[in-house]
Amino acid sequence: MEKRGCLYEGKAKRIYETDKPEVLWVEYKDDATAFNGVKKDVLTGKGRLNNEISSVIFSLLAREGIKSHFIERLSETEQLIRKVTIIPIEVVVRNIAAGSLVKRLGLTRGQRFDQPIVEFYYKDDELGDPLMNEEHIRVMGLATEDEVASLKEKALEVNEHLIELFKKIDVDLVDFKLEFGRDISGKVLLADEISPDTCRLWDSKTGDSFDKDLFRFGQGNLQEGYETILARLGGKS
Ligand code: TYD
Repeated sequence: MEKRGCLYEGKAKRIYETDKPEVLWVEYKDDATAFNGVKKDVLTGKGRLNNEISSVIFSLLAREGIKSHFIERLSETEQLIRKVTIIPIEVVVRNIAAGSLVKRLGLTRGQRFDQPIVEFYYKDDELGDPLMNEEHIRVMGLATEDEVASLKEKALEVNEHLIELFKKIDVDLVDFKLEFGRDISGKVLLADEISPDTCRLWDSKTGDSFDKDLFRFGQGNLQEGYETILARLGGKS
């Protein structure tokens, strides 16, 4: 596979074209951003950790029958993915109250829900990724009703598998964000990344955070938290 020109550079990744039109080359960067880009830093090793963790998780999900855009890990910081058109909806699943939910509804941080909560956010940096519902999605023509039903169903399925996976390594899956895309045939595929940048992960015994909250709130060393997750998942660290 040959790496060609850079197609897109985002906050955490660079995406390159390859000699195959349906395959893209992703490079994870060390840049960290939070609060819609207000807090920024370069954290050496973060790109490697997210690439390794996301590769392990997408591979495990594939074994459970959940297809994603992930093809293979190429190196410590690179992977190959199937080209998809990202649907501009961030699908958030919550098992335990934290983050914006606590702020918005005044719930107690750490409250466990009987049933997971699924939320949609409009993926738009200028608007600050606002919360939206299925009717907003319909009016804005972002996805069909069938697609929205499938996003929800897939997100809940991923949640079941991730809860199990993290339980085995003594980690509580608090919440996480997923993105989906349409492939050339229009099929909806899980996309983007699943890493401590996009999940809240708490140690089941101590309640310590192993995720981006370490950076958001300066609670500790982000790389150490991410290294712990990678090591517990059985990856190289
Ligand atoms: P949330 O508590 O809504 O927002 P914040 O990250 O501002 O506290 O986030 C819920 C989960 O979804 C959390 O694990 C972070 C993840 N997430 C992202 O990775 N990116 C996003 O743009 C949003 C809205 C959430």
